[in-house]
Amino acid sequence: MLDGKRILLIIGGGVAAYKALDLIRRLRDAGANVIVCMTPAAQQFVTPLSAASLSGNDVHVDLFSLTDEAKMGHIQLSRVADAVLVAPATADLLAKMAHGLANNLASTLLLATNKPVFVAPAMNVQMWLNPATRRNVATLREDGVTFIGPLDGPMACGEFGPGRMAEPSDIVTAVAKGLASSGVAQPLAGKHVLVTSGPTREPIDPVRYLSNHSSGKQGHAIAAAARSAGADVTLVSGPVAIPDPEGVRVVHVETAQQMLKEVQAALPADVFISTAAVADWAVAAPASSKTKKTRGAPPPVLKLVENPDILATISKLSFNRPTLVVGFAAETDDVIDHGREKLARKGCDLIVANDVSPAAGVMGGDANQVHIVSADGVESWPLQSKAAVARQLVQTCAKLLEGQRP
Ligand code: CTP
Repeated sequence: MLDGKRILLIIGGGVAAYKALDLIRRLRDAGANVIVCMTPAAQQFVTPLSAASLSGNDVHVDLFSLTDEAKMGHIQLSRVADAVLVAPATADLLAKMAHGLANNLASTLLLATNKPVFVAPAMNVQMWLNPATRRNVATLREDGVTFIGPLDGPMACGEFGPGRMAEPSDIVTAVAKGLASSGVAQPLAGKHVLVTSGPTREPIDPVRYLSNHSSGKQGHAIAAAARSAGADVTLVSGPVAIPDPEGVRVVHVETAQQMLKEVQAALPADVFISTAAVADWAVAAPASSKTKKTRGAPPPVLKLVENPDILATISKLSFNRPTLVVGFAAETDDVIDHGREKLARKGCDLIVANDVSPAAGVMGGDANQVHIVSADGVESWPLQSKAAVARQLVQTCAKLLEGQRP
């Protein structure tokens, strides 16, 4: 089931930690190579020696271990595995994961990993039902963490309800299933995905410019999701305040003209996703020195010229056109109608239409509600995080590339 897979098992500090020993054995029976990390609290319940004997590997417990760090740094430890499994996942570990805390080896590995993460929670019923834990669980699900359990039942503390750790055999099955489907969810392996993101900035003079409120969050999330789906990704980004996604080739540009040039230079691509909020106009003749106020003179009048339409240019290429061209439609009203109109006008295969009116909070926010407009009709997705929209869009593109209807 898990033949040859390397599983980094993080054992949290709960009474269910004793079941983690059985879990190690069952993971190995399924063919996995198990590398164990234990939190300080876990060592109050089971010993590193038991985990080492059962896993047949060194057990990692210390963030500041000189010997461990010399053999394999903690970042590398989080990367060599095919998956990370947290069992038992305590309320404290879930909270740390949800908030990105890294104050021991386990939480540091969880923050540093770029592999699928599975958690098998185990805690008291009230802790599981506490609104803080509910929020953390929702955040982690949004982030793509897979939950296995917990189960309902009598607990070590005498209470009854959800909070029991799933059975080790079920955890092994769930991880194997999750990894198998994440293999299917890597359908863009070998494909080149080209994404634009952020605003463009059109100079008025050396100190002033025309631009818009695009944060780049949606485009960057799409680049990251395409990367996770196995694609080779080029991201051409306007000026944004967020970091470059990991593992993605990023080309930084300012103006629409530069963005077009870099997009053309990055071809050929299998998929082009035009997320950038490209400024529609540039200043016809930007001043080469700062424009000064002149007393008594009227304010300067800016003469604008239309920028090239990058999406339409790429959609209408007769040579080197990407197999799939996806545009966005940023609208403040009649979102779907405008989406349909843009699909036809720009000649792309899909339009992701969204409401960017200030009340919707999409520009600069972390959530997005989109409608996928294609020749087949319109599919409306629920309000979800930009990361979730990105993952769903990438899966949709993968299916379309395979010639399937999403
Ligand atoms: N787009 C582009 N180049 C431009 C303008 C827009 O590539 N010069 C792309 C955007 O990246 C997006 C799509 O076209 O994928 C639609 O952008 P949007 O700003 O919604 O539409 P516009 O074409 O600018 O039309 P309008 O301003 O009339 O809504």
